[in-house]
Amino acid sequence: MLMIQDIAQLRALIRQWRQAGERIAFVPTMGNLHQGHLQLVDTAKQHADRVIVSIFVNPMQFGANEDLDKYPRTLEQDCQGLTEHGADAVFTPTPAMIYPRGLDVQTFVEVPLLGDYHCGASRAGHFRGVSTIVTKLFNLVQPDIACFGQKDYQQLAIIRQMVADLSMPIEIIGVPTIRAEDGLALSSRNGYLTAEQRATAPVLYRTLQWMKQQLNQGFSDLRALEQQAKEQLAASGFKADYINISNRQTLVPATDTTTAVVILAAAALGNTRLIDNIEA
Ligand code: PAF
Repeated sequence: MLMIQDIAQLRALIRQWRQAGERIAFVPTMGNLHQGHLQLVDTAKQHADRVIVSIFVNPMQFGANEDLDKYPRTLEQDCQGLTEHGADAVFTPTPAMIYPRGLDVQTFVEVPLLGDYHCGASRAGHFRGVSTIVTKLFNLVQPDIACFGQKDYQQLAIIRQMVADLSMPIEIIGVPTIRAEDGLALSSRNGYLTAEQRATAPVLYRTLQWMKQQLNQGFSDLRALEQQAKEQLAASGFKADYINISNRQTLVPATDTTTAVVILAAAALGNTRLIDNIEA
């Protein structure tokens, strides 16, 4: 696997692949790769001749009080996993290469409306940071397809909208969430959990499954169901940020006439914020 840190080197490689008529798949990540990320690589391989992965802990998507500094950086281990899964190249730029003029004066990309609720409401500027870095990485890599996890449901919806709105010729593939045996969605942040919190963490997904069951059985007071779910989570030691029964397309609050819904949740155990979702 080729290790690329330099933008000129990246562009030369992409040119070479393009001249050979190869189809390029891209998997953007922030590293600390787990089975969920490697599944994105496996999916990318099924759709293209070449797979390139980026590892960049993007400062622009972290708020002032968030975990940018302590976000786990495990490059050696990540490269081993990527090699085993047959990635062709990994791009690991530095913040200075990506944001040479600094974050304060960086041109940004912002997708309206889809980012108004859920994580967008509690993490000001987060999705602006995500949309901006993904645009920059797309411009550098110029892939034919790009893979993103469905665990970050709102992020995936925003990226799809951004690609459509900005006429980017890139097919976005959403890859199903990989879960531990007890149901916890894999996430780099799971590593922050203490043993006790890790034992409690699957309650988040079990609560979503319970809500789905209630909806399927005809429970129609959606706001009351959200409230009950929050109370259940609180009883297990979570501090719920949101549990929202939403319209799958627009991500606005669902009503009892919405046909396709997704339940989106974020809740903290101690200082660790977990997110998950389920389509119902
Ligand atoms: O999902 C992530 O890991 C990040 O938000 C992404 C898409 C790599 C952008 O930094």
